[in-house]
Amino acid sequence: MAMTNVQEMSMNGEQPPAEYIVKECRFGSMDSSPPLADEIPIIDISLFSPSSPQYSEQAENHELQKLRSALSSAGCFQAIGHGISDSLLDKVREAAKQFFALPVEEKEKYPRAVHGGAEGYRNDVVVSEKQVLDWSYRLTLRFFPGNQRRLHLWPQNPNDFGYMLHEYATKVKLMIGIVFKAMAKSLNLEDNSFAKQLFGDQSLMQARFNFYPPCSRSDLVLGVKPHMDRSGVTCLLQDKDVEGLQVLIDEKWVRVPILPHAIVLNLGDQMQIMSNGIYKSAMHRVVTNAERMRLSVVLFNEPDPETEIGPVEDLIDETRPRLYKSVMNYASINSESYYRGEIALETVRI
Ligand code: OGA
Ligand code: NI
Repeated sequence: MAMTNVQEMSMNGEQPPAEYIVKECRFGSMDSSPPLADEIPIIDISLFSPSSPQYSEQAENHELQKLRSALSSAGCFQAIGHGISDSLLDKVREAAKQFFALPVEEKEKYPRAVHGGAEGYRNDVVVSEKQVLDWSYRLTLRFFPGNQRRLHLWPQNPNDFGYMLHEYATKVKLMIGIVFKAMAKSLNLEDNSFAKQLFGDQSLMQARFNFYPPCSRSDLVLGVKPHMDRSGVTCLLQDKDVEGLQVLIDEKWVRVPILPHAIVLNLGDQMQIMSNGIYKSAMHRVVTNAERMRLSVVLFNEPDPETEIGPVEDLIDETRPRLYKSVMNYASINSESYYRGEIALETVRI
């Protein structure tokens, strides 16, 4: 099938073709404007570092409690106190905006193979019959380990794109390290219980830039279908002006509010596996907006494909038997389940 031109359809206000129309809701309802979430807490990451001026044991414990309750229900929170300056966050958003504003021919210089190749620029394509397409374009780049960067896929325009991304991803990686420790602490585990599986030298970080053009039928079409990330953790920089991200909590969708200086942190499947199901991989989706485009910049952290991950031993006991098998290369398990229309986590359950 030819590449459908979402951008052109968007500009002409055309009716989206059938393959974009969401026909059934496997999760929650389609209603594109549910209530704003009040279950998604704002967590101050700086309170997890004894060296920070605001630190006290009491403040840390309070934050750990919020973390535990958020991750065992919604699987996500908004991180502040992450030490990444507002101006850097704005520059990252700006670089993404400039890239997507390039003429189509420019962007297609960074193409991505339809099957297999995960990196590069592309809109959603059909891989299975039952699939409903996402109203979006994505640029995906592997970032860490540094020696796996495919620099020929990195935009040269804007010319500081690579520099910005490097600055940002390096800082996010530091933040993830702090969050892994805090997550372990919140479950009374040794500090490195999660980090040692998920965060070795060879652990992967992938960047994904999402662009959602306006859609005249935002009531029928999704920017991203309901899904759980395959990652360990995902760090998401939302658009400053246009909402769109929603999370499923207790079978109901809630909107994730925009906090311009916060980074939305959600868990992916591999963290649910490692925490033996105590912490949840967030089920989330993105709705389209009828008038305005939306951008987001997402960093996914996951172990390298050769590292085996599994539930942390101390989280397994008689009252809480082992829920998941140990697995390697969850990325491929995940994509195979996707092609078959299955939920990946279910396939690795004991
Ligand atoms: C994703 C995703 C959400 C967003 O890329 O996996 O869920 O707000 N993106 O763009
Ligand atoms: Ni996602």
